[in-house]
Amino acid sequence: MALLKLGMVGGGQGAFIGGVHRMASRLDGCFELVAGAFASDPARAHASAEILGVSADRSYADYREMATAEAARPDGIDAVSIVTPNHLHGPIAEAFLAQDINVICDKPMTATLAQARSLMLAAEASKGHFFLTHNYTGYPMIRQAQQMVSEGALGNIRIVEANYLQDWLSEAPAPDNKQAAWRTDPAQSGGGAIGDIGTHAYNLACFVTGLRTTRLNATLQAHVAGRTVDDDARVTLQFDGGARGHIWASQVAVGNENNLTLAIYGTKGSIKWAQENPNILLFTKLGDAPQMITRGGVAAHPSAAAVTRIPAGHPEGYLEAFATLYREAAEVIAANSEPTRKSAVIGIKQGLDGMRFVDACQRSSDDGGAWIAL
Ligand SMILES: NC(=O)c1ccc[n+]([C@@H]2O[C@H](COP(=O)([O-])OP(=O)(O)OC[C@H]3O[C@@H](n4cnc5c(N)ncnc54)[C@H](O)[C@@H]3O)[C@@H](O)[C@H]2O)c1
Repeated sequence: MALLKLGMVGGGQGAFIGGVHRMASRLDGCFELVAGAFASDPARAHASAEILGVSADRSYADYREMATAEAARPDGIDAVSIVTPNHLHGPIAEAFLAQDINVICDKPMTATLAQARSLMLAAEASKGHFFLTHNYTGYPMIRQAQQMVSEGALGNIRIVEANYLQDWLSEAPAPDNKQAAWRTDPAQSGGGAIGDIGTHAYNLACFVTGLRTTRLNATLQAHVAGRTVDDDARVTLQFDGGARGHIWASQVAVGNENNLTLAIYGTKGSIKWAQENPNILLFTKLGDAPQMITRGGVAAHPSAAAVTRIPAGHPEGYLEAFATLYREAAEVIAANSEPTRKSAVIGIKQGLDGMRFVDACQRSSDDGGAWIAL
């Protein structure tokens, strides 16, 4: 596959996830970074470009200018990564899609449901593809879990438990903590724990089970004094076909770092997975002892093998899972194909679904935990 040219919006000096995207995009040799509008502040944007080896003529102070200029170049970018705060995802993605440039955007897709609907229309009108980096779907054992559920190893799904627990917002953050500042500002984030990490848990549950949510109820709470977004969210999901689900997303659960877990219980068996120990999937067949599935024996686990890079026993983790999403996006872009129905690629549809989830949780909580149809 020819090396694809990548641009980036956000991810400048002092930013968090932009650096992860850069590493992930390079891991399988699919992309090279050639352009960027790396920060809201022009001086920081250009300084970041210099450090990253991006030439001055492709370092932009404004993403709109970048979209137009890159589209006009014969060697313009094939895709742009969007790694800014949430409220900018929609406008930035629309600017690049309007130029038929492929978009790789971090989650949640937007800050509001209205923005998500607008972006959906922009994506439909564009020749560019839209990819959403719900990176936890890239882990080999998650692909394995998805395969086992679809092959019926668990029987009919009854219960889905997806929790994402952190503690880094347990107190009012220091004023210079940029990541915390925009996340706790509803205008920039669109929501607190529910949007930031609840969407990951929800997406993961839907990705592995293939179930569709019919209704939900939620209680969102802000535990830290003065906070105007939720920092703790409890959600009950009703799925098509009768299964029940629960999501607990918290950023004030002391003792938890990135404790994302998924457990699925069916009529014939169950699976359990934990992001902090991601190379192991526990499978229990009804009546048997729990069985540990690893990346070893890859022939027996084709969906896990397809996204495994090194021999089992050598840990693979967050960066590799992220890189899998970049590789799969590159394959779609290079083939200029639509992701097939069976593809693992997460796109605009799942992004819109995620924002419907957030919106419904917020409305339910505002209405005292009432059931909301989706
Ligand atoms: N998938 C994951 O696991 C994961 C993890 C962390 C963050 N994220 C998502 O990534 C995004 C960024 O989060 P972060 O923690 O890296 O935030 P951050 O505050 O560290 O970085 C945001 C960057 O965006 C830049 N920016 C702001 N406005 C801009 C503009 N108009 N033009 C260009 N750049 C601009 C800032 O200067 C900064 O460089 C968020 O949407 C977040 O939800 C995803």
